[in-house]
Amino acid sequence: MTWPPLREELRGIEPYGAPQLDVPVQLNVNENPYGPSPACVADIATSAAEAAVTLNRYPDREFVALRQSLAWYLSRDTPAGIVPEQVWAANGSNEVMLQLLQAFGGPGRTAVSFAPTYSMYPEYARDTNTRWVAGRRADDFSLDLDAARDLVKTEQPSVILLPSPNNPTGTALPPEAVGELCEAAGDGLVVVDEAYGEFRREGVPSALELLPSYRNLVVTRTMSKAFAGAGLRLGYLAAAPEICDAIRVVRLPYHLSAVTQAVALAALRHAPELLGKVDELRAERDALVTWLRAEGYDVADSDANFVLFGRFADRHAVWQGLLDRGVLIRETGPDGWLRVSVGTPDEMAAFRAALSDVNGERA
Ligand SMILES: Cc1ncc(COP(=O)(O)O)c(C=O)c1O
Repeated sequence: MTWPPLREELRGIEPYGAPQLDVPVQLNVNENPYGPSPACVADIATSAAEAAVTLNRYPDREFVALRQSLAWYLSRDTPAGIVPEQVWAANGSNEVMLQLLQAFGGPGRTAVSFAPTYSMYPEYARDTNTRWVAGRRADDFSLDLDAARDLVKTEQPSVILLPSPNNPTGTALPPEAVGELCEAAGDGLVVVDEAYGEFRREGVPSALELLPSYRNLVVTRTMSKAFAGAGLRLGYLAAAPEICDAIRVVRLPYHLSAVTQAVALAALRHAPELLGKVDELRAERDALVTWLRAEGYDVADSDANFVLFGRFADRHAVWQGLLDRGVLIRETGPDGWLRVSVGTPDEMAAFRAALSDVNGERA
């Protein structure tokens, strides 16, 4: 056997992750550019200190207080409201979705999504020995509903992963599409990944509104993006209570540390402030789309805090040219396209200047 005795199918695979480079303008992993206020930092510090007093004890395994607070927060996006029994949380929505695949995927089962999409999805499938099938999105990155329905009927997946807005294209899903796929899925789960949900444009509803209609619908969210809490590692979902209960079978004991729970609760107390920058970021995003289009680029409509633009004969050269000017974006998505996260006005000015410069040089 080759050393180390890694699973055969994992040999030679690079670990997932964008380059973490120390450059002045970092627009590559869709973080929120605004940190918490001093008042919020102080509340977080006090809460972490209080949790530290009882660190000799395991934390609340069912994170009851945190579930209550998340249910309160989610209820603003659906008239039916959300109760704590409908909420589950883990260390980032990546872990939430891995747990979904652990509980509902596995050998002999299939997971489906539609490319181009978030590149972690096939990794959850691989790590849980779930068969992976990727359909295609239409040329404008929307979901071709007929083709999607056909694929679901043929493959009978136990989990369908549907990001809305999609990463890396920014495309939101209409609620009718979610509803039709929930029906086509039978007893399979339809997971609408709303990691960027809070950035959706005016009039675009959250899939949370559909929860009372479909027992197989799961909506995942994260505190990493709109909540400016990427370093916190807190993701969560809303679904029928029996789905939350089933996940408890696969979760590791005490998977959410006492410090994570205390800090997440403190951050949720500051929700209005932490989310206060979302409107500014949405306006900055729309201005970026307008500017890129005026410059002659193809730009995908975006409901997220990033924009996919192109097309470049040599996208790597453009990515490198921007990096040489201190601006880090992401070389991801279909060939010829690049993705840039929305930052502060100063960061976006630096990005626009650098892109114009790279263009001038290459003209
Ligand atoms: C579509 C999508 N879903 C989920 C995640 C996971 O985020 P986290 O694990 O930080 O909650 C990301 C992160 O970039 C993402 O782009």
